[in-house]
Amino acid sequence: MTAALTGFAPGVPAHWPAGLSPEYLARLDEPTPYLVTDLDTVARRRAAFARALPGVRTFYAMKCNPAPEVLTTLAAGGAGFEIASIGELRTLRRLGVDPAEVLYSNPVKPPAHIAEAHRAGLWRFSFDSPDELAKIVEYAPGAAVYVRLRVDDSTSAFPLSRKFGADPADAHDLMLLARRLGLRPYGITFHVGSQCADPLAWQRAIAAAGRLMTALRAEHLEIAMLNLGGGFPARYATEVPSIETIGAAVTAALHRLPYRPGLIAAEPGRHLVAESAVLAAGVVGRTRRGGENWLYVDVSAYHGLMETLQTRNGWDYPLWTSAAGHPDLPRLPFVVTGPSCDSSDTMFHDVSLPATIDVGDTLYIGSAGAYTLSYASAFNGFPPPTPLFVGSPG
Ligand SMILES: Cc1ncc(COP(=O)(O)O)c(C=O)c1O
Repeated sequence: MTAALTGFAPGVPAHWPAGLSPEYLARLDEPTPYLVTDLDTVARRRAAFARALPGVRTFYAMKCNPAPEVLTTLAAGGAGFEIASIGELRTLRRLGVDPAEVLYSNPVKPPAHIAEAHRAGLWRFSFDSPDELAKIVEYAPGAAVYVRLRVDDSTSAFPLSRKFGADPADAHDLMLLARRLGLRPYGITFHVGSQCADPLAWQRAIAAAGRLMTALRAEHLEIAMLNLGGGFPARYATEVPSIETIGAAVTAALHRLPYRPGLIAAEPGRHLVAESAVLAAGVVGRTRRGGENWLYVDVSAYHGLMETLQTRNGWDYPLWTSAAGHPDLPRLPFVVTGPSCDSSDTMFHDVSLPATIDVGDTLYIGSAGAYTLSYASAFNGFPPPTPLFVGSPG
C-alpha cells in the first residue's frame, strides 16, 4: 500500500477541511499524540447527509466517535442517536439527550442494559433471534422491536453479517413471534457493512426489506420504521462514491417499496466524522532493519489505529509529515510502527515519506475521526491521543 502523495504538501487530500490545514497544524504547539477534530466539518457533513437523503432521519452511531463535543454538535443539528450499550446511553443522558430519541441497535444486549434503557424511556430495540426476543419480553415488556435482516455486505471494508442478522424467512417468523409475545413489531433494519463503496448495496438491501414488508403485510403486519443502518463511506486516501450518489440510489430504492413506513432512519457513523479529524503522531525512532526503513511513532494500532490491523495493513489513511518540504525532495518507502514493545502494532507498510524524516518530526494521519479514539488504550504505558477540537459545537 502506498498513500497518495501529490502536490506541495504531499499526502494532504485536496478536499481537506480548512480548519485542519497543514499550516494550522504545524503551528499547533501540543505534545503528541493528539487527535484534533473540526466540529464545523462534523456539522457540515451531517447537513449534507440530510440533504442527500431527504426524508431520512439521522441516528448517529456513537460507537464511532463518542466525544461529547461531537455528540453535542450532532444533537444541535437535530440528529438522534444509535447506541450499542447502556454506557453509551448514560453518556447521552448526561448531555441531555432524550432516550426516546435513541435507537438501541445492538442485536444482542446484556439483560441489565435492556432493563435500564427501558426504565430510562428508550423504547426501540433491535433483535435477530428468538433468544433476544425472550430477553426483551422479560426486561422491556411491550417494547417496540425491529428485526436485523442479514444482507449482502461483501462490498464493504468491514463486513458484519456473519455476527448479526436473520435470513429473510427467519426475520419474517421472528416479527410474527414478537407480536405473539406482546411486543410491538415495529421495524426492519440492516447494515451493508462499514465503509461500503457500492451504492447498489443499499438498493439490494432495501429491495430485500421491501420483500419482507410485503410478506408481513400478508399477515396484517405493517412496519413503522425502515432503518438503513450505517456503512456510508468516508474518503481516506482513495475516492469513494459521493453521498449524493448514494443518496440518489437510496431514494430510488425507497420509491420502489410496497409502502413507505412512517420513519425511514439511517445510522451513519464513519461518514459523518472520519474526515473531520487528524491524528498527530510524534516520531520516536527511525532505523533500518531487514533491508527496510522503519519509523517508530507514538501512536499504534492499540492507540487508535486498530483498523489498520483489521484490514491487514491495507488501510489507506492520507499521510503527511512536518518534514514534507518540496515534492521534489527525495522520499523513501517506510514501515510505520508503534512505540510499544510488541510487533503486532505495526500500521503501515511501504508508505512513501520524506527521506529526511526523523525523531522529533510529526506524522499527520488524516481522516482519523472514526473508530480511532474509541479504540485507543494506554497499551505499554503510552497514553492515548489527547482529544482537541476546533470549530463550534453547534
Ligand atoms: C448497528 C450499527 N449501526 C450503525 C453503525 C455505523 O456504521 P458506520 O460507521 O459504517 O456508518 C454500526 C457500526 O458498527 C452498527 O453496528
